[in-house]
Amino acid sequence: MKRKRHSLFAILWLGAWLLVTYGSNAAETGVVPPDRELFLQGRFIFERNCATCHGKWGDGKGDMSAGMLPRPRSFVSGLFKYHSTPAGFLPTNEDLMRTIREGIPSTAMPSFTILSEKEIHAVAEYIKTFSSKWRKKENYAPPLQLPPLPAWFERRQALQTHATTGHDLFQQLCAACHGLKGDGQGPSAAQLKDQWEQRCPPSDLRQSALRSGRQFTDIYRVLMTGISATPMPSFADSLSDKQRWDLIAYIAELRREFHPD
Ligand code: HEC
Ligand code: HEC
Repeated sequence: MKRKRHSLFAILWLGAWLLVTYGSNAAETGVVPPDRELFLQGRFIFERNCATCHGKWGDGKGDMSAGMLPRPRSFVSGLFKYHSTPAGFLPTNEDLMRTIREGIPSTAMPSFTILSEKEIHAVAEYIKTFSSKWRKKENYAPPLQLPPLPAWFERRQALQTHATTGHDLFQQLCAACHGLKGDGQGPSAAQLKDQWEQRCPPSDLRQSALRSGRQFTDIYRVLMTGISATPMPSFADSLSDKQRWDLIAYIAELRREFHPD
């Protein structure tokens, strides 16, 4: 009896919630709410796999969160670091799903390869319910179209030439934070904070498992989008396509010196 009343309450709560959050403005925003089955599946997965860190209410204050750096994301503000959309916009579904599937290297965020794609989709939809940002169409943007890795990356000599130009750019634009050798030890590194007032050290760019991904094209994406809520700026407007690749060539050289084949 108690259990029945409990589930009746859950259904009423869900109905009321969907009505309040989406019902009134779905027609204007064009943002489609998850269906009931997906929502319940997402909540089930979230409470079992994510709430210990991200908190039952998605506020980043789960039991295990104390002392973690970076802290588990609060989903309430709707701020995400890793996205293929321009700076200031919400991540795409695929961005969220990639984070959940692959985790974030060198942080506590684990990879969830044990979940099926449908389960990952469900939990990605569920975390959107914590912030009203997801209900406003103006926060959505299509992902940036990124160019493929230039063919010269495969040619040692050409790579070195591009890396020389990249070195100068890196010294001017990146070294204050990332250090001239890309080890994350630049002069301003120690003072950097994120939007949540937590220490936010610049990445050691010599490692190949970066938080944003393992490919050189992932670095290109970060240079276009920046990393929201952190001091890592977007260089979409201030650099040309060629300059971005030159910088990446320099980072490729730093990595080779760090991990010689
Ligand atoms: C052991 C702790 C832990 C667990 C469990 C965990 N996370 Fe995280 N998660 C983190 C931390 C720490 C971060 C912040 C990483 C950063 O700032 O780079 C994070 C970040 C995220 C982000 C934000 C990425 C961005 O672009 O800002 C998403 C989305 C996310 N987690 C989803 C999930 C989901 C969904 C689950 C469960 C299936 C989950 N996490 C389970 C610790 C955890
Ligand atoms: C004002 C300081 C600052 C400047 C300038 C800066 N960065 Fe960053 N960068 C950061 C911080 C801080 C992070 C880590 C953000 C996080 O994941 O929490 C970062 C992260 C990155 C990442 C992602 C690493 C990862 O693990 O995913 C790349 C790539 C990167 N920076 C490249 C560059 C390049 C190239 C330049 C120069 C064109 C540059 N940055 C300039 C502060 C800076």
